[in-house]
Amino acid sequence: MKIAILGGTGALGKGLASRWIKANHEVLIGSRDINKAQEIAVELGLESSAGMLNIDAADLGDIACLTVPFAHQESTLSSIGNKLEDKILIDATVPLVPPKVMRVQLPPEGSAAMKAQSIMGEGTKVVSAFQNISAELLQTDKEIDCDVLVSGDFLEARATVIELAADAGLKGWHAGPLCNSVAAEALTSILIAINKKHSLQHSGIKITGH
Ligand SMILES: NC(=O)c1ccc[n+]([C@@H]2O[C@H](COP(=O)([O-])OP(=O)(O)OC[C@H]3O[C@@H](n4cnc5c(N)ncnc54)[C@H](OP(=O)(O)O)[C@@H]3O)[C@@H](O)[C@H]2O)c1
Repeated sequence: MKIAILGGTGALGKGLASRWIKANHEVLIGSRDINKAQEIAVELGLESSAGMLNIDAADLGDIACLTVPFAHQESTLSSIGNKLEDKILIDATVPLVPPKVMRVQLPPEGSAAMKAQSIMGEGTKVVSAFQNISAELLQTDKEIDCDVLVSGDFLEARATVIELAADAGLKGWHAGPLCNSVAAEALTSILIAINKKHSLQHSGIKITGH
């Protein structure tokens, strides 16, 4: 699958990219700055031509994954126009409001994923995932003992993202409709608080009962 990572030059984007490259997916690194995108593509072992502007990555990709800070979610999605029409957009955005990142602070739309869907319109299938996974761990070869909650209004699109989570070495779970993304997004602030209070580096979540 050709996966466009929008904001792919950052911590989470590079982590997911490295895992998907190892799983033999074609990865496109999107950025606001083509030079930066090409530099990171080469750093990840890709041809420099795999680095490009976000709008071009969105256009060329079969599927896209958004990995930018919440404050820049709207501007990034607005900058790609209708390039994700009839495609899946994986939204990994967590609506953190620095400096109080240990406090759950949700946007008026209900969640970052719901906001992404309202920006993109009905032609794009937004699926929420990866909010509770450490970018730092993704950038290593280590096994990651953390599950992924995958929510979205389209069953097949969710199933595709669960497969991509598996390709990244992660267990994904169908977590219901897109509005449920609020739970995964809110959990991130709790995990940050747990990391701090319990001196952990990469706390995560695990579904039990199987
Ligand atoms: N870090 C984690 O462990 C982690 C885990 C799960 C979820 N998340 C979520 O994933 C998202 C990305 O996190 P991250 O840690 O990867 O973020 P990051 O490294 O701080 O930034 C990611 C990319 O966002 C783009 N960006 C930065 N400022 C921007 C601006 N003013 N306008 C437009 N784009 C801008 C940059 O790309 P260009 O400069 O190349 O355009 C940057 O490389 C966040 O919503 C975060 O909450 C993070």
